[in-house]
Amino acid sequence: MKLNFFSPLLFIISLPYLHNLHNVQAQPSTIGYNCTASNQSSSNTCQTYAFYRATPPDFLDLASIADLFSISRPMISNPSNISAPNSTLIPDQSLFVPIRCSCNTLNSSLTLSYAGLNYTIRSGDTFYLVSTHSFQNLTTYQSVEAVNPTFNPIRLEPGDVITFPIFCRCPNASQVRNQVNYLISYVYQTSDNLSRIASRFGSSVQSIIDINGNNISPADTIFIPVSRLPNLTQPIAPRLAPERDDRDGTTVGLGIGLGICGLILCLVCGIWYYREGLMKKKERKYRDEEKGQKGVKELLKGEEVTLMADVSGCLDKYKVFRIDDLRDATDGFDDKCIVQGSVYKGCIDGEWYAIKKMKWNAYEELKILQKVNHGNLVRLEGFCIDPEEANCYLVYEFVENGSLYSWLHENKNNEKLSWKTRLRIAIDVANGLQYIHEHTRPKVVHKDIKSSNILLDSNMRAKIANFGLAKSGCNAITMHIVGTQGYIAPEYLLDGVVSTKMDVFSFGVVLLELVSGKEAIDEGGNVLWDSVGGILDGNEERKLKKLREWMDQYLVNESSSSAMMESAMGVVAVGVACLNKDPTRRPSMVEIVYALSKSDDLFFDVSEDGLSPRQVIAR
Ligand SMILES: *[C@@H]1O[C@H](CO)[C@@H](O)[C@H](O)[C@H]1NC(C)=O
Ligand SMILES: *[C@@H]1O[C@H](CO)[C@@H](O)[C@H](O)[C@H]1NC(C)=O
Ligand SMILES: *[C@@H]1O[C@H](CO)[C@@H](O)[C@H](O)[C@H]1NC(C)=O
Ligand SMILES: *[C@@H]1O[C@H](CO)[C@@H](O)[C@H](O)[C@H]1NC(C)=O
Ligand SMILES: *[C@@H]1O[C@H](CO)[C@@H](O)[C@H](O)[C@H]1NC(C)=O
Ligand SMILES: *[C@@H]1O[C@H](CO)[C@@H](O)[C@H](O)[C@H]1NC(C)=O
Ligand SMILES: *[C@@H]1O[C@H](CO)[C@@H](O)[C@H](O)[C@H]1NC(C)=O
Ligand SMILES: *[C@@H]1O[C@H](CO)[C@@H](O)[C@H](O)[C@H]1NC(C)=O
Ligand SMILES: *[C@@H]1O[C@H](CO)[C@@H](O)[C@H](O)[C@H]1NC(C)=O
Ligand SMILES: *[C@@H]1O[C@H](CO)[C@@H](O)[C@H](O)[C@H]1NC(C)=O
Repeated sequence: MKLNFFSPLLFIISLPYLHNLHNVQAQPSTIGYNCTASNQSSSNTCQTYAFYRATPPDFLDLASIADLFSISRPMISNPSNISAPNSTLIPDQSLFVPIRCSCNTLNSSLTLSYAGLNYTIRSGDTFYLVSTHSFQNLTTYQSVEAVNPTFNPIRLEPGDVITFPIFCRCPNASQVRNQVNYLISYVYQTSDNLSRIASRFGSSVQSIIDINGNNISPADTIFIPVSRLPNLTQPIAPRLAPERDDRDGTTVGLGIGLGICGLILCLVCGIWYYREGLMKKKERKYRDEEKGQKGVKELLKGEEVTLMADVSGCLDKYKVFRIDDLRDATDGFDDKCIVQGSVYKGCIDGEWYAIKKMKWNAYEELKILQKVNHGNLVRLEGFCIDPEEANCYLVYEFVENGSLYSWLHENKNNEKLSWKTRLRIAIDVANGLQYIHEHTRPKVVHKDIKSSNILLDSNMRAKIANFGLAKSGCNAITMHIVGTQGYIAPEYLLDGVVSTKMDVFSFGVVLLELVSGKEAIDEGGNVLWDSVGGILDGNEERKLKKLREWMDQYLVNESSSSAMMESAMGVVAVGVACLNKDPTRRPSMVEIVYALSKSDDLFFDVSEDGLSPRQVIAR
């Protein structure tokens, strides 16, 4: 009786002490879970799974989660009971992500059990944020620091490749005897209790406590012993991936690529295979193959490892074309099929495609294209490798109406674009750029935005093409200046600084082209962006007069509408802001999309004249 009466008191008194004790015991788990590095391979390395929850905004589709874990989508969708690998997930949807767990010796006194994942730092990332957000507390920043002793956590540079140790454990011999085949890494949530977890995973509370101890607190990684992977019941009808013509870049932005797998893998496989053929021929053939060989070597460097990974994931995304089909479609790459440069037009199985012929230098463009997917970017449909001539072909969707350049400056159809169409084109391009700047990891800089790289589809909606010069990763400095006169940002020309702001500058030039109908650089070598200075000075009346003089004369008919002039003035103002000499003072694409959409609303509201927004005015 006495004892019963006193025990609650005892409990209260000892509470602070227990709390301390708990902290002490939890200590090892903050740096990781130790293991004994023995050469019994069964307990050293194993295939296991981490439980992951889909979270908006960045991790709401399999592609970006697969990317994060450097695996392919089917490797997640199969164990997770998801039938459509390209569907969008719902927030908090449960997934099993396979990881390869091993025991790693960090120094003489520290061996940790983890699955090391490479992660490329983006600006704003810290060890803490990536551990708690992207990896959802499946690791801790303390552990990341221990595993990456050569990096200073407060001096991370975008582009640094950090190994994130995902906590995991392999069952030991006695566990295996008891039919424990996996220890699933699971992050304990505030709303969890052990009995619920145990029943969900087909385990028992006692066996979870045996392995993880009694002091489990939220955000701890625990290991759930199971004999087989539990069945996940997924929501019946997951929403489909966003449609391609979705204008809202923020939702489409989630469709980030396939990760390391993807197209590169297919390509590397193909090249690997064909290289054998090339080698044999080398004795018979001339030196001109050396170029191809060099490219192959560069391509294979560092990529051989990924060859081992699962290839199936990329085949669902891209089609592998046969060289004979491409030859048939283009009359043997006849000049009359050339659309522009080395791009041919061809019809395969009733579908038109644009086929770009490249040497092995397709790698950079592929690397970027396999990460992007947006209605305002020209879509890659597939590729083809021609072993005979060491050529690589990228096959894109065919965009019917040709380049904006030809519409503005070549007057090819005796048709001109209405203001409404031009405004829509500006917004489309801005959306495409916003997507590559804000929603890809690492950011992609196109580096060659110009009217001839903007294509118009059958509805006169714009798509950005030609990622041949594009660069991923930011704030790099390059010694090798590429780009097109009249569009190149001054800081890039001077110092070779590559940033998203150089695309903003080029986009500003395109806006001026749309309003003025003038080329970015005239025959005399004068650049268009130099000519816009005076327009925005003075009072409203003077500004309108100036603008009317400078504007494309085809728009002058429309310019009687004050809404149109106001809208054009808004676009020029955005253009001028984009052309600021100081890159840091140029607006971001997010701000630009917003400003242009406002200009669009303004115009659209007033001009209720029944014209379709895609209306083209005849000359
Ligand atoms: C571990 O490796 C050492 C030599 O590398 C060997 O002598 C020893 O037998 C191995 N132990 C086990 C348990 O395999
Ligand atoms: C992806 O989704 C589209 C349409 O939702 C479907 O037609 C296609 O078969 C899907 N691809 C795969 C591999 O599931
Ligand atoms: C690993 O943990 C065991 C107890 O589980 C402990 O005896 C051992 O000292 C630890 N090793 C290290 C290097 O911390
Ligand atoms: C991570 O990068 C290192 C060094 O580049 C490499 O050795 C390792 O294989 C990579 N790991 C994965 C899982 O890609
Ligand atoms: C990870 O843990 C931190 C700190 O406990 C918490 O703020 C964060 O919300 C957790 N992240 C997730 C995805 O649960
Ligand atoms: C081993 O690494 C850990 C974490 O980096 C460190 O705290 C510890 O002092 C190191 N031990 C030795 C002996 O170097
Ligand atoms: C665990 O949670 C479930 C539902 O969330 C609840 O029904 C159950 O009573 C809880 N069990 C304990 C021991 O708290
Ligand atoms: C295997 O792991 C369990 C739980 O961590 C532990 O109780 C047991 O002693 C281990 N057995 C061996 C042989 O190491
Ligand atoms: C999972 O589903 C399969 C087939 O539907 C069934 O045979 C198996 O028993 C289930 N496993 C669990 C743990 O529920
Ligand atoms: C997979 O999920 C569906 C619901 O989408 C569910 O009906 C089915 O039972 C699950 N399969 C298994 C093996 O659990």
